[in-house]
Amino acid sequence: MRKDSRIFVAGHRGLVGSAIVRELERQGYCNILTATRAQCDLSDFRSVIHYFEHVEPTHVFLAAAKVGGITANNTFPADFILENLKIQTAVLEASKLAMVNKLLFLGSSCIYPKLCPQPIKEEYLMTGALEPTNDAYAIAKIAGIKMCDAYRAQYGCNFISAMPTNLYGPGDNFHKAYSHAIPQIMRKFHEAKLVDLSEVRGFTDGSPLREFLYVDDLAKACVHLMHHYREAGPINVGTGVDCTMRATIELIAQIVGYTGRIVFDGNIPNGTPRKVLDVSRIHALGWKHEVSLEDGLRKTYDWFLSAEDKRM
Ligand SMILES: NC(=O)c1ccc[n+]([C@@H]2O[C@H](COP(=O)([O-])OP(=O)(O)OC[C@H]3O[C@@H](n4cnc5c(N)ncnc54)[C@H](OP(=O)(O)O)[C@@H]3O)[C@@H](O)[C@H]2O)c1
Repeated sequence: MRKDSRIFVAGHRGLVGSAIVRELERQGYCNILTATRAQCDLSDFRSVIHYFEHVEPTHVFLAAAKVGGITANNTFPADFILENLKIQTAVLEASKLAMVNKLLFLGSSCIYPKLCPQPIKEEYLMTGALEPTNDAYAIAKIAGIKMCDAYRAQYGCNFISAMPTNLYGPGDNFHKAYSHAIPQIMRKFHEAKLVDLSEVRGFTDGSPLREFLYVDDLAKACVHLMHHYREAGPINVGTGVDCTMRATIELIAQIVGYTGRIVFDGNIPNGTPRKVLDVSRIHALGWKHEVSLEDGLRKTYDWFLSAEDKRM
């Protein structure tokens, strides 16, 4: 990927896509292509083919997807499987037809079996049953990986698949019901602070161990993989470091400045006791995360406050 390569970032307004654009710009890439949903609906095969014929990208970061937290996945499983299959199918086929040099597909750590050994190695894919609350989404992502591999095997396409752990950062979705854990918890404490609430409840019992990666670190990993990885199968992207949800939640409260009581009432099911990726493969390629959870959460809260200011 040269500095003047024609690089299409699909999903450039989302959490991941916007971070990839920031990182490419920071590194001096000068030919970044983006399209809003109105300009090109990526779930519409014809419009994707037309867009690729028009802009002729040489490299593609596929960060467009239908994404959401547990409640969203559980409520709209048909939308999650259909939208994601449509987007992936259209972008991969268009990339093959346009003879794109390289494509990076973004999956998610939810592709791995619910009860697989920890830390999770890439080879555990399809060795057991998935977490049922998001299996429709996970199946779509597994299909994306297999499609990349099939296009590589049959047509020689240089399509790679990166599997990030839980992400957070500027540009995240802070929707009250349908967002991921970190923005949802951050918002909860922010609102509690505003009305001086004496206690906040509605958590797990705090014991689950989870891993979180700051999105700018993921963006650096994606650019790194574009340069240094060209194999079939998924490659994990995470910190390899896990932390109890209790400690993570207390840290978020501290950063937000909420000083009331936090009740770990177990109102939300704990889910799998531990989930952390084995990141030895990407470490061996020369990438490692840089941003600590505390620094990342501070940056995320600063961004949330500035976005709130803009809305007012
Ligand atoms: N967030 C996480 O914690 C996490 C963790 C692991 C993996 N990932 C993966 O990372 C990728 C990106 O996730 P994200 O968190 O950045 O999601 P996001 O913030 O929801 O962004 C998704 C982007 O895709 C675009 N998009 C969706 N459907 C489209 C369509 N039909 N046509 C055109 N654009 C469309 C959205 O456009 P609009 O702006 O128009 O809505 C948005 O810009 C996904 O593949 C996801 O599986 C995310």
